Amino acid sequence: MKFFVDTADIADIKEMADTGLLDGVTTNPSLIAKSGRDFMEVTKEICDLVDGPVSAEVVALDHDTMMKEAETLRKIADNVCIKVPLTIDGLKTCKKLTSDGTKVNVTLCFSANQALLAAKAGATFVSPFVGRHDDNGLDGMELIAAIRHIYDNYDFGTEILVASIRNPVHVLKSALIGADVATMPPAVIKGLFKHILTDKGIEGFVADWEKTGQTIPTS
Ligand code: E4P
Repeated sequence: MKFFVDTADIADIKEMADTGLLDGVTTNPSLIAKSGRDFMEVTKEICDLVDGPVSAEVVALDHDTMMKEAETLRKIADNVCIKVPLTIDGLKTCKKLTSDGTKVNVTLCFSANQALLAAKAGATFVSPFVGRHDDNGLDGMELIAAIRHIYDNYDFGTEILVASIRNPVHVLKSALIGADVATMPPAVIKGLFKHILTDKGIEGFVADWEKTGQTIPTS
């Protein structure tokens, strides 16, 4: 499963990229607003920091303007992935862009039927929002399982990019279901490394090692 970080914060992206475990980045208009940065400028910086796809979202609601915005965004860098909303105009834009070989992430997916439409429109990624699904009294992970089932039935190549992840359990369940990508806030990625028994174990080994009075030569 690929790991994407869901942020437009350059310091956070650098920190995650340094782990060597980062496969891509997703942004959205809210995350750009939170960063307080110029959209074009910060997107270029992010694209320079990671080799994998960087999702940059169009803000227009009609197909013609979406196409014009996508044209501007895809000139930022080769690894830009155009993010479009799951609407008729968004999917028309997706179909057109992917036919030309442009990567497209269809976002704001909340049903398996919507994911089916995104796959038929040739989406590179579909982004079902599990956290927001849970917030509305539904089970976000059931949605991921249904999409996996449908995509496998028909051998769709669209990658399931689990979005709106709020905790490590969402990540674990995504991996068990066989989702292709998880995009996570930096805090969730950091949380994946943590286990109280790992910390306790290190504490014990360090204490016992000190008792030996030895060192491991490092040069
Ligand atoms: C995905 O691409 C979105 O940017 C994101 O995961 C939305 O998450 P939220 O529901 O926490 O805003």
